[in-house]
Amino acid sequence: MCGIVGYVGYRDALDVVVDALRRMEYRGYDSAGVAILDGNGSIAVERKAGRLANLEAELAETGHFAGAAGTGHTRWATHGAPTDRNAHPHRDPSGKFAVVHNGIIENFAPLRRELEDAGIELLSDTDTEVAVHLVARAYAEGPTAGDFTGSVLSVLQRLEGAFTLVFTHADHPGTIVAARQSTPLVVGVGDGEMFVASDVTAFIEYTREAVELGQNQAVVITADGYTVTDFFGNTAGVVSRPFTIDWDLAAAEKGGHDYFMLKEIEEQPTAIADTLIGHFVVDEQGGRIVLDEQRLTDQELREFDKVFVVACGSSYHAGLLAKYAIEHWTRVPVEVELASEFRYRDPVLDRSTLVVAISQSGETADTLEAVRHAKEQKARVLAICNTNGAQIPREADAVIYTRTGPEIGVASTKAFLAQIAANYLVGLALAQARGTKYPDEVAREFAELESMPALISRVLESAPKVRAIARELAHVPTVLFLGRHVGYPVALEGALKLKELAYLHAEGFAAGELKHGPIALIEDGLPVIVVMPSPKGRAVLHSKLLSNIREIQARGARTIVIAEEGDDTVRPFADDLIEIPAVPTLYQPLLSTVPLQIFAAEIAQTLGYDVDKPRNLAKSVTVE
Ligand code: AGP
Ligand code: GLU
Repeated sequence: MCGIVGYVGYRDALDVVVDALRRMEYRGYDSAGVAILDGNGSIAVERKAGRLANLEAELAETGHFAGAAGTGHTRWATHGAPTDRNAHPHRDPSGKFAVVHNGIIENFAPLRRELEDAGIELLSDTDTEVAVHLVARAYAEGPTAGDFTGSVLSVLQRLEGAFTLVFTHADHPGTIVAARQSTPLVVGVGDGEMFVASDVTAFIEYTREAVELGQNQAVVITADGYTVTDFFGNTAGVVSRPFTIDWDLAAAEKGGHDYFMLKEIEEQPTAIADTLIGHFVVDEQGGRIVLDEQRLTDQELREFDKVFVVACGSSYHAGLLAKYAIEHWTRVPVEVELASEFRYRDPVLDRSTLVVAISQSGETADTLEAVRHAKEQKARVLAICNTNGAQIPREADAVIYTRTGPEIGVASTKAFLAQIAANYLVGLALAQARGTKYPDEVAREFAELESMPALISRVLESAPKVRAIARELAHVPTVLFLGRHVGYPVALEGALKLKELAYLHAEGFAAGELKHGPIALIEDGLPVIVVMPSPKGRAVLHSKLLSNIREIQARGARTIVIAEEGDDTVRPFADDLIEIPAVPTLYQPLLSTVPLQIFAAEIAQTLGYDVDKPRNLAKSVTVE
């Protein structure tokens, strides 16, 4: 996820582009850069690691780039640390082409090898850079020689993955060529000026007339118009969606929502899809998990005799779920420990221990200190992180990045779900390396993961029902959450969301623990949210949780049950029933968590609280 803008018109392009980047900085802030066409065969490029302010300071030094066309980019790195040389725009050796990119070019590695074999030196570690070199080669020779648009189209046909790409050429200052596959791109239609951008916040102050491009579409913009085609240049049958923007700027940043968190809940399907991109390659055995940033060999994965997961808060809950998957798939014992407790308990670990440190921010002090302790004990550390270049991945031996884009809301949502997916990738990579799962079994599990985005979208459709229940319960003194097996960490996560968003006392329990004390809390009308396991999974779990529901209902609890579609046995015991698609046991948390996020956010809004910035909390806790 990043912020992209392209402009062709009559205004000062640098001002337009930098203003747009300011408004899109929430989309990515690892680095920023601009490319401005001076109209006389040159492109002026400036790019700087860090926040946009660093770029602006640099531009103030270098002087104003004059020109009426240009592009800009705020980066959320996926490939290559947030450095100046990895910042966009990227150029070809002639300096005539420039490209900015949002997303992941999944097949960048073979394309990079092809370019290097042809003697082309790539200057960055990014996946993006291959695109500009390929386009420059297509423009220099062959069937699209000298054809700017044709060169871009020919390369688009070769790229795999999720990408929005915006190209400029110094000799074509009145033209910008852009394209999208699985990541957003909108055209801003002005009067004598035209925009392309990741989202409408880039140009909303200049025009409210926009066109949303469809999947696998390219667009050529000039000051006077735009042309939408497929990747082969065809216009026939290519449908894009013109619309008028009726949001104000603040709402546009949040995709029309009142809060970033609400937008981020809806981004979860994309967050999972993007996190999975490039992590499974089909081969003659059917396919294998590839954790390219992992930097742990199969031999090392075979040698681990124990896994320790350390994290805080929601990331800790993701770690609890990792335990079920990794132990089930690999039979390697997994301990999960709060990072703030880890090093004080004198944990038993050595060079045969794999420590998985989960952190959205990558800066959480408790988790960072746990990583340092693990390394002192000679354990190998794999970080699961959402922030490229953060301290925890820098100090870990290996890293797997969740690719949700920036998570602005303090309460973690899309990062939490993506952490589950990333942990499952680790489990499958361990099972694959240790032979505890055959390649076809690994492929089947990865296919389950790949099916999650569409199923999460289906769960999001139940949001209005969940919100209605939440509004009814907004003034209750407490809410309990019950679950068994993988439903237990989900219950903990649901309780945490409610605590941190609505400042309500909430508690998650392993349902089997009720009779050992907590059932004393049950009284008339007390809301209890129950995360029901699949009746097709461990049937005994389902029947035991059904008994738990009867016990609490008999004592007056109001039962809000999250259950699989078609699980009719639970219906008589659910005062409110929220149905989710049936999936294999280990994948249910990716679905059952979503209503709990919506529930907590709605209660917080009903109580008038700031959902994005809950009191007393920070997005990244960099103190112990
Ligand atoms: C989650 O909703 C909270 N904001 C908090 O518990 C968070 O998960 C925790 O502070 C860990 O943060 P990290 O993932 O950035 O390390
Ligand atoms: N994959 C590209 C990079 O890492 C683009 C990331 C983004 O969307 O900002 O530079």
